[in-house]
Amino acid sequence: MSFSITFLGHATWLCDIDGHSVLIDPFLDDNPLASTDAASLSPDFILVSHGHGDHIADTVPIAQRTGAKVITNFEIGNWLMDKGLENVHQQHIGGGFQHAFGHLKLTIAHHGSGLPDGSYGGNPAGLLITAADGTQAYFLCDTALFTDLALYAQPDVALVPIGDNFTMGPDDALEAVKILQPGVAIPCHYNTWPPIEQDPNAWAKRVTEETSTEGRVLQPGETITLGE
Ligand code: NI
Ligand code: MN
Repeated sequence: MSFSITFLGHATWLCDIDGHSVLIDPFLDDNPLASTDAASLSPDFILVSHGHGDHIADTVPIAQRTGAKVITNFEIGNWLMDKGLENVHQQHIGGGFQHAFGHLKLTIAHHGSGLPDGSYGGNPAGLLITAADGTQAYFLCDTALFTDLALYAQPDVALVPIGDNFTMGPDDALEAVKILQPGVAIPCHYNTWPPIEQDPNAWAKRVTEETSTEGRVLQPGETITLGE
């Protein structure tokens, strides 16, 4: 079993789960912090948490080029099929499905999900992935703090927005870690633009010092391997 997660900048991640390449919320070519570009990636799966441009951005061109299966909510799935994608798997909040890479549940997220052209994108989601050996990664994606995070408690790693303004900020993200009690908490969704400037190292230090979780910052391009 192997499960690694590479931060590609902002809220974009590339997972390798038992040899399956899973790209999450691809925002690369217009992302000032991206560590790579859309043309360099050949994922097997693309997961899209919600319809905002900084999450769905490069989904269509990557999926068209590679044939990757796109997994997202019902409304975004319809929008992508209208754009010509054929390999789409639709789920919705609270629903889980066993994919080749592992089990994926769409979780609650408190945010918006409008698509770039103004189309209705359903409700936003978080992404809870459970690999074959039980290793869990919880991508909170864009959300406010909410106490029902306790439903998804104790994943091995939590990927937590800290940028404030559009999502929870550092203080609420610290509360989220206290509720979730993940093994490791990694910040995201910060410093891409001025309204979400934060100090990720200061946040990770607080996580390590004030909770039972290890706070860890990944630079764009850096990888964490779970179970090591
Ligand atoms: Ni968003
Ligand atoms: Mn966002």
